[in-house]
Amino acid sequence: AGPDYSALKQIGAILNKNPKCKVVFLVGAGVSTACGIPDFRTPGTGLYDNLEKLNLPFAEAVFDIEYFEKNPQPFYALAKELYPGNFQPSKLHYLMRLFQDKGRLRRVYTQNIDTLERAAGLRDEFIIEAHGSFHANHCIKCDKQYSMDKFKTKILAEKPDDFAKCESCKGLIKPKIVFFGENLPSVFFDTWDGDLELLSKDHIVIVAGTSLSVYPFAALPTEVPKATPRALLNLQVAGDFKSNPRKSDMIFKGEAEEAAEVIVQELGWEDAFETLLEQ
Ligand code: OAD
Ligand code: ZN
Repeated sequence: AGPDYSALKQIGAILNKNPKCKVVFLVGAGVSTACGIPDFRTPGTGLYDNLEKLNLPFAEAVFDIEYFEKNPQPFYALAKELYPGNFQPSKLHYLMRLFQDKGRLRRVYTQNIDTLERAAGLRDEFIIEAHGSFHANHCIKCDKQYSMDKFKTKILAEKPDDFAKCESCKGLIKPKIVFFGENLPSVFFDTWDGDLELLSKDHIVIVAGTSLSVYPFAALPTEVPKATPRALLNLQVAGDFKSNPRKSDMIFKGEAEEAAEVIVQELGWEDAFETLLEQ
């Protein structure tokens, strides 16, 4: 038997049947692995298995605010590798763009800091960067913004002990990425509250490329009203789809890229998709 596309066909059927139906995407690192960016927790290839060279006390320390204050070096080393500009969006990113172009997108909640949603042409109003991104920076003491160009130069130079420091208070500069020990941006909570009120009618929620292991983001699928169909496109069944499965859940266990292609076919959007991929 070939791959099981039944969940993807179901997604297509719901969307085809109800032209008013819009999609909320909840995504994580697995939508960017096809772009050459490692995810965090896949054993072997995930980032947290490959940080030995940074000599961290524990892997997540690289994104820990208390650790960063004491030793920003490991984060600088990693930031140099991950700095946006070196990567192209994936088919799943372009699928989300296509939903925008077709007027069928409600929102994209992303845990990713790679800004590939923006690179794929998604507009600001549709993107919630739940864990922030490299798009802005600030002083960790007084919040003052630092020149993005100068910051990039410091990161790419990666000179030990030459870290970007605030021009007012000498505090360390850090991209506006949400570290462990920091709060998520209020726009994340506010937008989700508003979207939740709309979700119960004419919406589906598609979760893709996330292990659903970091809260509060991991709780979002749990909060989706029972009447709203949920889908998971992921290499593994994760989070609430595993611990509290619903009869109506649509689960495709496989590559997000492959899922994107099949969904495009089910919707008959191949031509527009090709145009986006070729641009
Ligand atoms: P994880 O690495 O925890 O999970 C990635 C998930 O994507 C796993 O379940 C993989 O099996 C799956 N996956 C990988 N490649 C895939 C592919 N091509 N197609 C489909 N699925 C694929 O990453 P996140 O869940 O995003 O925080 O991690 C959440 C947060 O933990 C991140 O935002 C990061 C990290 O600490 C910050 O950077 C602040
Ligand atoms: Zn400052």
